[in-house]
Amino acid sequence: MKERPIVSEQEMERQRAFMQSVRERPERPRSYHIVSMGCQMNERDSESVAGMLQAMGMRPEPVRERADLILYNTCCVRENAENKALGNVIWLKELKKDKPELMICVGGCMTQERGMAAAMKAKYPFIDLIYGTHNLYRLPEYIYRVLTERRPVVEVLDIDGEVVEGMPEARRNRFNAFVNIMYGCDNFCTYCIVPYVRGRERSRQPEAVLEECRRLRDEGAQEIMLLGQNVNSYRGGGAAFAELLYRVDGLGIPRIRFMTSHPKDLSDELIAAYGELKHLMPQLHLPVQSGSDEILARMNRCYTREHYLDLVKRLRAVVPEIGLTSDIIVGFPGETLEQFEETMRLVREVRFDAAYTFIYSPRKGTRAAEYPDDTPYEVKSERIQRLIELQQSISLEVLQAQVGRRERVLVEAVSTRDEGSVGGKTPRGHMVNFPGDASLIGRFIDLEITSAGRNTLRGRQIKTEE
Ligand code: SAH
Ligand code: SF4
Ligand code: F3S
Repeated sequence: MKERPIVSEQEMERQRAFMQSVRERPERPRSYHIVSMGCQMNERDSESVAGMLQAMGMRPEPVRERADLILYNTCCVRENAENKALGNVIWLKELKKDKPELMICVGGCMTQERGMAAAMKAKYPFIDLIYGTHNLYRLPEYIYRVLTERRPVVEVLDIDGEVVEGMPEARRNRFNAFVNIMYGCDNFCTYCIVPYVRGRERSRQPEAVLEECRRLRDEGAQEIMLLGQNVNSYRGGGAAFAELLYRVDGLGIPRIRFMTSHPKDLSDELIAAYGELKHLMPQLHLPVQSGSDEILARMNRCYTREHYLDLVKRLRAVVPEIGLTSDIIVGFPGETLEQFEETMRLVREVRFDAAYTFIYSPRKGTRAAEYPDDTPYEVKSERIQRLIELQQSISLEVLQAQVGRRERVLVEAVSTRDEGSVGGKTPRGHMVNFPGDASLIGRFIDLEITSAGRNTLRGRQIKTEE
């Protein structure tokens, strides 16, 4: 992976000046609402967007209809993600009829798709600002232009991304923090649009990552999640991912996790790190995508079923109770019933804690979109249903095996489903709900696991660490 130029301090200074100029304009929006779609990387970007908007003098507005500025941070990894984003945009047109001063901004992965911004501009002239993934840091400049030029601004850069440091940020909370360590992807899995919309892989310098983690720790972070489309191919300032992990571990933040890892880049050093690092949680999201070697080859995944199973074996030799999760695609073009059965067998063999399953969705511009696909959608639906049922029964068994144990959770949030309860994760990554209120958020609580549901556990507090 190449190291990329960092956006200059001069440019960031320019953007700070735009933030100031926006703040001084009386007609600027006073409140904002961000809708973040897709993955954690988008969520992290949304925190930067929130930081910039706040620096421009706007406050967060939880009710979308009441906000003066609505920003969509879109995803396009599957067609339904894109449809959801477009559906939302159309709804905004109605909203704007009643509220002409509403500023509508759309950015993220979908707008970065080739030809998309121009098509959107033509079709949805009520959108005030369309930007892409590579120019997020210029948001202050674009918002200033929308205010002063009083016409839509559409800017999506075709050049590949740089590394941006020093953007303002407004984090979701100070206890659980996302830290981006690399951007983009070079893997070009044949079904995937991410490399086209997020650009080439580029890593942050380890010092910049460590500096951010140190700051988060000092502000109270109890858990950090290192993020990248392919975190384990990180290479910044000559340091490989495992080296970075050792250095982050040394900062003393209680819990460290990372995602997403690619099986082909899972090094021996990284496996060993699970046995050595004090703060690295026994959990790994390791998408397998398919259990068939032919399909894996046509997906350009660069590993075999055997290699994947060997990784799982070696990880479990180091951490027998590691919480493994996966992504699986069903109905890749030309997938035969036998090839699908191989995926089913792999799932039975590995016994993931959980798996996110998707029906293959053709993405324009990717190689697989050109592959012949004669499997009817209904057949794919039946296959995914079988896979979901299988995984649900395994997940339930895994969760039931936790009942009676004592676990320490980091409380994350008030439970939305369970009134009077809060939820926190165990080291292995299982969510446990138990009676409590918002004052527990950010604290470590010792629980006894009392029962298991389909996706979550329930527990009872036994003693609190002070
Ligand atoms: N970088 C990560 C995740 C990328 S997107 C990784 O490599 O694992 C998250 C998941 O979406 C992928 O793991 C894959 O299972 C799924 N996905 C990506 N493109 C897809 C497509 N065209 N159709 C269906 N699922 C897709
Ligand atoms: Fe997409 Fe593959 Fe890159 Fe993941 S590794 S983002 S699935 S191209
Ligand atoms: Fe979606 Fe972009 Fe993430 S396409 S999954 S938001 S990188």
